[in-house]
Amino acid sequence: MVDELLTSRLRLRRWTQKDRGRLAEVFAKPEVWRFPFGRGFSVEETQAFLAYRIAEQATGGWADWATELRDSGRLIGYIGLSVPHFLPEVMPTVEIGWRLDPLAWGRGLATEGARAALAHGFSSPDLHEVVSIYEPQNAASGRVMMRLGMRFDRDTVHPTRGLALRVYRLSRAEWESTVPDGDDVAR
Ligand SMILES: CC(C)(COP(=O)(O)OP(=O)(O)OC[C@H]1O[C@@H](n2cnc3c(N)ncnc32)[C@H](O)[C@@H]1OP(=O)(O)O)[C@@H](O)C(=O)NCCC(=O)NCCS
Repeated sequence: MVDELLTSRLRLRRWTQKDRGRLAEVFAKPEVWRFPFGRGFSVEETQAFLAYRIAEQATGGWADWATELRDSGRLIGYIGLSVPHFLPEVMPTVEIGWRLDPLAWGRGLATEGARAALAHGFSSPDLHEVVSIYEPQNAASGRVMMRLGMRFDRDTVHPTRGLALRVYRLSRAEWESTVPDGDDVAR
């Protein structure tokens, strides 16, 4: 995993403990964790999230990036690749995901950051496909998957929470055929 990815409006970078305060502010908003929890995170939950991400990063494996606006340096959430251990039926694979501050929604930022994450992921010869998993009620997340050129794979159920889940999938070949010319990943 690289330290940093730049798009025209976003910086995707490694997490640090300094992110704790601002991330807690974003994660406390109920809209941010409506799916799957129906409520915002406590400060302790955000700390646990951050500690897990920092530990994952240290292993050199796939881990979501802290995502900030380039113009202000403001942290707005995360975008990136991770391993969906919670859904054994799709393993082994890598998942692309996103979670942003509602103040940043509706400007194409999730799609922009996800394209950069996919371009980086598929630059690794080890990555042959990615999945993305959402609750079908979470229409905005499903739209991002469609805009990325992902295709429906299956409907299933979360093994412990019992929630309906929809899985989208994108192979390397599909990615290569859908990347728009002049995509907005700053190289
Ligand atoms: C999902 C999320 C990251 C999208 O971020 P974003 O930066 O607003 O996404 P984009 O602007 O790139 O694209 C959003 C798409 O969803 C559409 N959309 C937004 N809200 C929608 C809604 N309620 N119903 C249907 N479509 C919706 C937008 O119109 C856009 O599609 P379009 O460009 O084809 O019109 C953001 O809503 C979020 O952080 N949600 C909370 C966290 C979450 O649920 N994460 C996903 C868990 S699976």
